[in-house]
Amino acid sequence: MLESIPMSQSRTIQTRLVLPPDTNHMNTIFGGKVLAYIDEIAAITSMKHAKMQTVTASFDSVDFYSPVRSGEVLELEAIVSSTGHSSMELYIVVRSQDIHTGEKKLTTESFVTMVAVDGNGKPQEVAPVFPETEEEKRLFESGPQRRQHRKEKRDMPHKFFSL
Ligand SMILES: CC(C)(COP(=O)(O)OP(=O)(O)OC[C@H]1O[C@@H](n2cnc3c(N)ncnc32)[C@H](O)[C@@H]1OP(=O)(O)O)[C@@H](O)C(=O)NCCC(=O)NCCS
Repeated sequence: MLESIPMSQSRTIQTRLVLPPDTNHMNTIFGGKVLAYIDEIAAITSMKHAKMQTVTASFDSVDFYSPVRSGEVLELEAIVSSTGHSSMELYIVVRSQDIHTGEKKLTTESFVTMVAVDGNGKPQEVAPVFPETEEEKRLFESGPQRRQHRKEKRDMPHKFFSL
């Protein structure tokens, strides 16, 4: 087994300015744009942890709590919250900030599973993580329950349309 790494080591923060091409006719950001940003920060954070390339295996359900308007700043924060053998669970929180008032709002939060792979796409072992702060401990300790829930979901028959 590889040596454990603190969760904070791969913690990543990204800030983005929301511009008109990112928004719909209501002047609020497209949900798909936020998902793409989440996917990107999950890739960066997981690769920093695994020290190799990673692929996205799954997104848990994503709820959007508040709209983000053009001209606002979007802040994404990601951390490896728990690990399996080759998979990493990433916790990602997205906040918007109004630059005039400084007010911050929660846009969404999500768990993404990334898998470390070699050049042929074969899953590779990753180092475990360990928590240091109280927040990290809560995230880390609830990881096995979420993993089990995902596994049960995967085992359910769901291929309604044939390929
Ligand atoms: C993710 C992927 C590498 C898994 O490969 P696999 O040959 O099925 O490997 P395994 O079944 O051994 O799974 C490897 C790990 O991934 C996890 N995993 C696989 N599918 C998963 C899913 N849908 N959700 C969460 N975890 C998943 C397994 O639990 C396992 O974790 P562990 O090693 O920590 O125990 C493979 O399905 C893949 O390449 N998918 C496409 C990835 C991609 O291209 N993403 C971009 C969008 S299409």
